[in-house]
Amino acid sequence: MQKVRKAVFPVAGLGTRFLPATKAIPKEMLTIVDKPLIQYAVEEALEAGIEDIIFVTCRGKSVLEDHFDSSPELERALLAKGRNDLLEKIKVNYHVACTRQSEPKGLGHAVWCAKNLVGDEPFAVILADDLMLSNPPCLKEMVKLYNELGGNVVAVEDVPREQTYKYGILDVESDNGKVVKAKGLVEKPTPEEAPSTVSIIGRYILSPKVFEYLDKQERGAGGEIQLTDAIAQTMSHVPSYGYRFQGTRYDCGSRKGFVLANAA
Ligand code: G1P
Repeated sequence: MQKVRKAVFPVAGLGTRFLPATKAIPKEMLTIVDKPLIQYAVEEALEAGIEDIIFVTCRGKSVLEDHFDSSPELERALLAKGRNDLLEKIKVNYHVACTRQSEPKGLGHAVWCAKNLVGDEPFAVILADDLMLSNPPCLKEMVKLYNELGGNVVAVEDVPREQTYKYGILDVESDNGKVVKAKGLVEKPTPEEAPSTVSIIGRYILSPKVFEYLDKQERGAGGEIQLTDAIAQTMSHVPSYGYRFQGTRYDCGSRKGFVLANAA
């Protein structure tokens, strides 16, 4: 089993739900109390043993790129004041790479943009909008499961049937409570068409085989290139499992989730 070393963070969304706040500030840089949303996601990846952070950005996200760079002036000033506690909070001692998605063609397309940076090895995808509160952290548990089972591992949660249209949904082959084996995946089905209510939430560990299908650039639900469809197409070669997340997820892509996350 190859080690999961790289994580892809699609951060090219426009964040229109948070306008006017996100006119000049990337939505991933909005803070939950004192830390940008994206930093929670990066820290979760590092805790799971990820060594390479890959951002898929777009125009207007340079503040995010600066946030994950060293800041010599600030570091010198903090050092001079003996503020090692603050230095600790701002240091970036891991490898960061950025690439761009020049057109918003969907999540699958965003992940495909990182293909050359990922190469031929398993990798994680983290959607920072989904803020996961749990101990141990969600991705760490998924890496553990991946090391046992291999294949693709996606984090899942049971949602009310009327909400299936917002998620990728598993067609369940077997379910032992913690691990759900999938025999199919459908992106954003209507409640009537959904094969189950087990839905993908924003954490994935994927075989590089998904890139073979993303290469075809096929459009799916909403006219977008969907990651769910590419994962579904790998399933005849790569078994796919859902890890039922044990903890609380805050959908920080919505204003309500964002406020709840701040309160929590
Ligand atoms: C994306 C995925 C979907 C997944 C969801 C989790 O949808 O396409 O399969 O269930 O993230 O948050 P989006 O929220 O970008 O519409």
